[in-house]
Amino acid sequence: MSWGGCKGVAHFRVGDILNLDDICFDEFDIIITSRCLINLTSIQDQLKAIKNIHLALKPNGIYLMMENFIEPLQNLNNARSRYNLEPIEIRWHNLYINQEQFLDQISNLFSVVKIDNFASTYYLISRTLNAILNLKDNKVDYNSTLNELAAKLPSLGDFSPEKLIVLKKYNYYRLISIVSLHRRHSNFMGFIIIRSLTLLGRANEQKVY
Ligand SMILES: C[S@@+](CC[C@H](N)C(=O)[O-])C[C@H]1O[C@@H](n2cnc3c(N)ncnc32)[C@H](O)[C@@H]1O
Repeated sequence: MSWGGCKGVAHFRVGDILNLDDICFDEFDIIITSRCLINLTSIQDQLKAIKNIHLALKPNGIYLMMENFIEPLQNLNNARSRYNLEPIEIRWHNLYINQEQFLDQISNLFSVVKIDNFASTYYLISRTLNAILNLKDNKVDYNSTLNELAAKLPSLGDFSPEKLIVLKKYNYYRLISIVSLHRRHSNFMGFIIIRSLTLLGRANEQKVY
């Protein structure tokens, strides 16, 4: 194996995303998952994984989340229905994420930097037009010229179940717990300080991006 410029810099460890024993706090600048959360078996586990990722990131750390979502699959299946194509089912071992609900649930932990539907046009063409052409032969040609051409087009719309969401760790979260100690002395002051920190945290996010 060639290490290139990574020798002494990159280290590989195998770990369970649901078990923090393997993870240091505030250790990573960037964390990437690629179709990992969708292989967890419950929404509770997916949220636990997200909390672990949040803890493992350094302040201002970035989480690159490349996972599969329910809404674009519905959009894709709506497009397929125009051609009388059967809906694509989610395979039994995958738990796709409800994007809207999910972003709401993690809104205390991360700000959304970018949502990149990088494969949308490819999915739309490969799962509609290419699927229809394939129906004639009754076999799917994943390497068809149409798919190759579709992959070169700009990505438009929200038709790819797999997408990249770039999230940035909120840092005020931890400050809130420190400040909450003061609430014993004055609930009202505690509330004012917590609200200020929350707004400050959001203002800072906007400055950076
Ligand atoms: C669908 S595969 C994706 C593989 C590869 N990242 C890709 O995108 O082609 C799901 C991956 O999630 C990993 N995975 C599942 N549960 C995990 C857990 N609890 N902790 C860490 N990784 C896990 C599996 O080992 C597998 O490599």
